[in-house]
Amino acid sequence: MHNAEKIKNRTYLIFVDHRFDKLAESEIKQILPKSKLIPYKVRNNKNMDTIFFKLSVKDISNDISEKIENSNLSFVDFILPIDIILDEEKIDYKIIESSIMRIIKKNQLFKLEVKKVDRLLSESAKSIEVNLGNDLEYLGYNIDLIKPTVIIYLIILKKFIMIGHVNVNMQNNYTLDIFRESNKEGIRRLNRAEFKIKEAVQFFGLNLSKYKLGLDIGAAPGGWTNYLSQQGLRMVAVDKTRLDYKKICNNKRILVLTDDEDLDKTKEIIKEKNSGLEVAIKHISKKLQYNEYDIIHIKTSIDINNKTKIFKNFEKFDLLTIDTNTSPLESTAIVNSLTELLNKNASLIMTTKLVTKDFNKHINTIKKELYKNFKNIKIKKLPHNRREFTVYGTYNGNNK
Ligand SMILES: C[S@@+](CC[C@H](N)C(=O)[O-])C[C@H]1O[C@@H](n2cnc3c(N)ncnc32)[C@H](O)[C@@H]1O
Repeated sequence: MHNAEKIKNRTYLIFVDHRFDKLAESEIKQILPKSKLIPYKVRNNKNMDTIFFKLSVKDISNDISEKIENSNLSFVDFILPIDIILDEEKIDYKIIESSIMRIIKKNQLFKLEVKKVDRLLSESAKSIEVNLGNDLEYLGYNIDLIKPTVIIYLIILKKFIMIGHVNVNMQNNYTLDIFRESNKEGIRRLNRAEFKIKEAVQFFGLNLSKYKLGLDIGAAPGGWTNYLSQQGLRMVAVDKTRLDYKKICNNKRILVLTDDEDLDKTKEIIKEKNSGLEVAIKHISKKLQYNEYDIIHIKTSIDINNKTKIFKNFEKFDLLTIDTNTSPLESTAIVNSLTELLNKNASLIMTTKLVTKDFNKHINTIKKELYKNFKNIKIKKLPHNRREFTVYGTYNGNNK
């Protein structure tokens, strides 16, 4: 099973967000024009955002298998190569376990993920997962929930059980935890937005230890700023709305710079909402030593025609993030208006709202506008994106 050369006929499950099924299908068709994609119709699971296609590839060569497994597709959430399909009426632990034992070796650290899709069972997926895990451990297999090298997926469908595995070193290409997001790093999370930034960093392969200063536009309530700050970046967060200072403080020194006319009133409100918390609050026009702070919240909006001079007081930024919930045209206009603040090769992570269903038009707008100043542009529908895409790029240093 480990050796792709032996496989003559391979099945893959291709998981996609149902909103982007057509785009996902055409992406797969582009890399594998002769493949046959069969949408799986889920019967009794209306809450599933994810749907999947069954892809069968005959006489698969190494080349094709690599193409699929290493593909960086924008609209596919997850590709699971299937090792074994069990045509079982009931959940037979012995049969499932012996199948898993054909996929992994005893010295491999692995984790099991069980997903019950449309089969009615009294036992929960979690309970099946725990029972299988216990049995396999008893048989001498090595389960590691924190740092596995292999993840085995058991997908329980109405008439079949599909078992597949992925190697964890492919994490940059795959977003593995589509079914259940586990908080492995023990970082305190503020909101769903934090998952989006984490997924983007992982998917686009950013090594955050190399970044020093980040500019986060549309930062409130502070999920992205919090995550990036906890990863060691000094952050300048921009939003007219207040951040959740109490949740993001975590031993970080916070400064709020405001353009509000009534500074005293702003101070009062922030102090009231964050009792006992030390947050420095100053007027935006005040000259200060910014280096004393880990997070500087500039309480204003970016207006592309009326650029705020304050940003020029900082060193150039290595990372620009933007999550303003605006259309592709508006989001890219904000980004392009800020390029003079960036170091050459600074990274961009931007989400942009899909204001209509004409996704192709949005993709073209994003590319056309961003290519003026950025290169290596990649667009991805990440698992925690709802009606939006996440976009990555590197600043080319030309400032158009
Ligand atoms: C989806 S929320 C951002 C969530 C945030 N990334 C987080 O992790 O908590 C969008 C925010 O963008 C802000 N926003 C929209 N347009 C903006 C602009 N032109 N300049 C600055 N902030 C803006 C809104 O005030 C709102 O708080």
